[in-house]
Amino acid sequence: MYHLGMALVEVNAISKSYPRRAGLRTEFKTVVEDVSLTVESGETLGLVGESGSGKTTLARIILGLVTPSRGSVRVDGIDVARASGAELHRLRRQMQPVFQDPYAALNPRMRVLEIVTEPLLIHRHEAGIKTDRASLRAKAIELLREVGLDESALPRHPHEFSGGQRQRINIARALALRPRLLILDEPVSALDVSVGAQIVNLLRRLQREHGLTYLFISHSMPLVRYLSTRIAVMERGRLVETGEALELCAHPKEAYTRQLIAATPELPVGA
Ligand SMILES: Nc1ncnc2c1ncn2[C@@H]1O[C@H](COP(=O)(O)OP(=O)(O)OP(=O)(O)O)[C@@H](O)[C@H]1O
Ligand SMILES: [Mg+2]
Repeated sequence: MYHLGMALVEVNAISKSYPRRAGLRTEFKTVVEDVSLTVESGETLGLVGESGSGKTTLARIILGLVTPSRGSVRVDGIDVARASGAELHRLRRQMQPVFQDPYAALNPRMRVLEIVTEPLLIHRHEAGIKTDRASLRAKAIELLREVGLDESALPRHPHEFSGGQRQRINIARALALRPRLLILDEPVSALDVSVGAQIVNLLRRLQREHGLTYLFISHSMPLVRYLSTRIAVMERGRLVETGEALELCAHPKEAYTRQLIAATPELPVGA
């Protein structure tokens, strides 16, 4: 069911603490504290903050990979922590992650054909998913073309590709189930600047073509500004400022936001 007028992602007063030993006692370290935000359908919400500010933890909570200590997350109206098995399965189809390290995310023993079509096999019992050899091959070629690769990649293994090409393969795989939402956690941080810029422009094109919604995580303010409609700024687990991207960058309210803007040089990305 599509929930009209509802944010695609609703993060509601999320906190996350981890236990740590302090001498004989166990203390709790809060890494995300009382964060609320929404991601509207079709937009890019940029999530920016220094290393350790809790961005990845928040992303993993939204993906249902980490259980929050408090608060709730709804994706497409479904409470991620309380979803039934069938609902979770459906959510997994709608929401796909792309992580920083394009090599770690790819199984080195699999061929590209298997990598990009594996999500279809995982969801093979669902309507509209064909898993005969010819269909999988055709689908893999279609996905590779969308990310700027071609069918010569199909029989090859991840180590035969450059970092940028590997991230393209990750993105192709993330698109296999035609998700509505990509959670992009520092997808270009491990790449050379010029290669990263190509991936960023690919992401922009894919968003236009497929009406995708992005949660884009980065510590680079210029990169986030280039891609985002809105920006949320995190500092030590807390959301310190949220606003429309250009407005927030032109008139930051918080000293921390000004620091982030000053800390990073402009990027060589162009439309
Ligand atoms: N499983 C865990 N157990 C204990 N502490 C954790 C765990 N996962 C994350 N942390 C801590 O939570 C804090 C936030 O980490 P997180 O990875 O979310 O930050 P981040 O903003 O993504 O940083 P980066 O920009 O370096 O990726 C860090 O201090 C980290 O050490
Ligand atoms: Mg992180």
